Amino acid sequence: MSAAPWTATVLTLFPEMFPGPLAASLAGKALERGDWLLETVDIREFARNKHRAVDDAPFGGGAGMVMKPDVIDAALSAARSRRASAGGEDRFLYLTPRGRLLDQGLVEGLARSSGLVVLCGRYEGIDQRVIDAHGLEEVSLGDFVLSGGEPAAICLIDAVVRLLPGVMGNADSAGEESFGDSGLLEYPHYTRPAVWRGADGIERAVPDVLVSGHHAKVAQWRRAEAEGITRERRPDLWHRYLAVRSGQPAADDETNEN
Ligand code: ADE
Repeated sequence: MSAAPWTATVLTLFPEMFPGPLAASLAGKALERGDWLLETVDIREFARNKHRAVDDAPFGGGAGMVMKPDVIDAALSAARSRRASAGGEDRFLYLTPRGRLLDQGLVEGLARSSGLVVLCGRYEGIDQRVIDAHGLEEVSLGDFVLSGGEPAAICLIDAVVRLLPGVMGNADSAGEESFGDSGLLEYPHYTRPAVWRGADGIERAVPDVLVSGHHAKVAQWRRAEAEGITRERRPDLWHRYLAVRSGQPAADDETNEN
């Protein structure tokens, strides 16, 4: 008997936003094959009050509205029992700019789980008590604010799905990419023609070493490029790389569980 497919359950006020871009390309093909499953839960269906309200004014005053704890609790509890009866021990995430920053380590951990239940917020946020009651892991895509968690959920699910067994054609490409095992950003890529004239009229040739056929030199060049780009663009990753290479944990090393 094969294991149940990895499952993303998305709790949202906008179920029509899914699968959206997840229906195309690698993730979409894998979804069609049944390599993973996507379920959406319409939060509004859990609003039992007279006006089917999902939000209310914040205690203490201030702008915006807050999503009601009873409605979110009912939606989360329904998802929890459905996934538990399917035998899953899913991770429960709430997407918010206040959360822990998403990185490839967290994505890898999520790909090893049975699935994700992802709560997408709208308005000012969600009543803190329901976040606490369900022990939601708060995750952010970056230091910017989206109008809701849905686009973040699409990015997160895409990042996880491409790591699931059988989804990526070329298993090699995952190891060498940015944030892969090396901890470096990726080196630059080139393909034919060897000399190319751009719209600016300038002819640009690919680096000689790449057409030399000398595999060890190519690997050395790529490593040097990856190091240079990482040092220049991401001093945080660069310092961690240096520390790992010298066998010491970096001062700012994250010991977050995946
Ligand atoms: N919702 C709104 N902004 C977000 C962000 N930066 N990351 C994750 N979820 C969000």
